[in-house]
Parts: sequence; structure tokens; C-alpha cells
Amino acid sequence: MAEPDQARPLASVRVHPRSDYEEKALKKMNHRRNLKLCGCVTAILLLLLVIVIVILVFTVFKVKDPTVTTNEIQLTNFGLNLVQLPTPQVKINMTMLVNMSIKNSNRASFKVGNSTTLVYYRGISVADAVIPAGLVIKARKTSGLNVTVDVMADRLASSPDLLRDVLQGKMIMNTYSVIPGRVKILFIKKHVEVKMNCTMTIDISKRGIQDMNCKHKVKL
Ligand SMILES: *[C@@H]1O[C@H](CO)[C@@H](O)[C@H](O)[C@H]1NC(C)=O
Ligand SMILES: *[C@@H]1O[C@H](CO)[C@@H](O)[C@H](O)[C@H]1NC(C)=O
Ligand SMILES: *[C@@H]1O[C@H](CO)[C@@H](O)[C@H](O)[C@H]1NC(C)=O
Ligand SMILES: *[C@@H]1O[C@H](CO)[C@@H](O)[C@H](O)[C@H]1NC(C)=O
Ligand SMILES: *[C@@H]1O[C@H](CO)[C@@H](O)[C@H](O)[C@H]1NC(C)=O
Repeated sequence: MAEPDQARPLASVRVHPRSDYEEKALKKMNHRRNLKLCGCVTAILLLLLVIVIVILVFTVFKVKDPTVTTNEIQLTNFGLNLVQLPTPQVKINMTMLVNMSIKNSNRASFKVGNSTTLVYYRGISVADAVIPAGLVIKARKTSGLNVTVDVMADRLASSPDLLRDVLQGKMIMNTYSVIPGRVKILFIKKHVEVKMNCTMTIDISKRGIQDMNCKHKVKL
């Protein structure tokens, strides 16, 4: 059995002033503890930072699709001429106004690039229009986009179905708009492309548009 008394002189050493060696060892220990604490705090801060960044990436920095809506398509000009001789032929002048609105739900502005609208009649492209880049939609704002398209009578006349459709009083046409753009949130840049395909029936006697049906696709 060890004698408990033997421990006493050791314990009593603490009462005396610490030796240089002891002082150094203690300091070293404290230093190590501080270093460990420091490392822990840094790790926690880093973790918090990572969590904050992840949250930001999925909320504020998340690039949302702009919403494009086709409000209406109007025939602003419609002229029809039926020529009987030498062969029955239809000449149609037509101007369409495609009225769209773009809603930007991002917390950054949306720069609209060169937008194009094509008009098809029975699969033949009969008109196209380009809206040059320049429109900038501020954060969480909606902006209108008007596209005026002039349908080229000669391209329309090249369709063998035109005369029959005109005599029946209805023409089915579709407009296809491609709206590219860019959202930049701090250092994150995202290209977005919205495609809008609207099918409609043109009522020749009323000179108006019926049964408009639009579908849109977004590519981020
Ligand atoms: C088409 O428009 C042109 C120019 O605006 C006009 O001269 C022509 O008569 C029009 N044709 C029809 C069929 O309305
Ligand atoms: C476009 O549609 C909106 C909403 O229906 C309407 O307020 C606006 O006047 C239209 N613009 C044109 C040019 O028709
Ligand atoms: C838009 O088109 C013009 C002419 O084709 C081109 O110079 C310009 O770079 C285009 N802008 C964008 C944003 O694509
Ligand atoms: C759309 O057209 C209407 C009438 O032509 C005009 O008042 C309006 O400013 C246009 N909107 C845009 C965004 O071009
Ligand atoms: C637009 O939709 C119509 C009907 O769904 C389809 O026939 C046509 O091919 C589409 N056009 C484009 C360019 O995708």
C-alpha cells in the first residue's frame, strides 16, 4: 500500500511559487486549449456560413422562371382580295399584334434579349418579327411586350390550302415566340429562354381571332 503521506509534499508544491518550467508548461497548456477553442469557434462559424450560403442559394439567389403570358392577339389590319381570273386566288394582308406580358419574380432584374415571333400557317412560316434586346424588367415587376407582325401575302398565297380555308371562313394559324433573357444575381448569371406557341383560328367574316390557345416552355 502506498503511503498517503507521500502525496503531501507534492501537493504542497502548488503553494510555492511556480517554477519557470511549470509556468511554461501551464502556458503551453492554456495556449493549446485556446487554440482548440479557437478551432472550434472557427469551425462553427464556417458551418454557419455554409448554411447561410446554402439557404441563400436556394432562396434569394435562386433564379426563377420569368412568367410569360399572352394576353391577346389582335388583327390590327386585315385585307382580303379574291381574284377570279386567270385562276381563283386569294390575297391577304394581315397584321397581328401579339400582346404579351413578362413577369419577373426574381430579386434581380431580367434583361430581355432579341425576341423573335414567327407566324405559321399550315406549317409554312408566313411572317417574322424581331424585338431587339434592350428591355430590362426590374426585380418583381411585370412588363408588357408588344410584337407587331406583318404577314407576307405572297408567302401565304403559296399555300395550296388557302383558298379552301378562306371559302370555309376559317384559317388556323400559330405564332411562335422565343424570348431569351438573362438574370444576374451578384456573381450568378443565368440564361433563360421562354418559348410561347399559340394556336388560333381566324374568323374571316368577323376579321377576328377565336379560340386562342397558348402553351409555353421555359428552359433555364
Ligand atoms: C395590302 O396592303 C397594301 C399596302 O398597304 C395595299 O396596297 C393592298 O391593297 C392591300 N391588299 C389587300 C388585299 O388588302
Ligand atoms: C395588352 O393587354 C393588356 C391586358 O389585357 C391591356 O391592358 C393592354 O392595353 C394591351 N395592349 C395592347 C397594345 O393591346
Ligand atoms: C441582338 O441582335 C443583334 C443583331 O443581330 C446583335 O448584335 C446583338 O448582339 C444581339 N443581342 C443579344 C443580347 O443577343
Ligand atoms: C404596347 O402598345 C401600346 C399601344 O400600341 C403602347 O401604348 C404600349 O406602350 C406598348 N407597350 C410596350 C411595352 O411596348
Ligand atoms: C406549336 O403547336 C402546334 C400545335 O400544338 C404544333 O403543331 C406546332 O408544331 C408547334 N410549333 C412549334 C414551333 O413548336
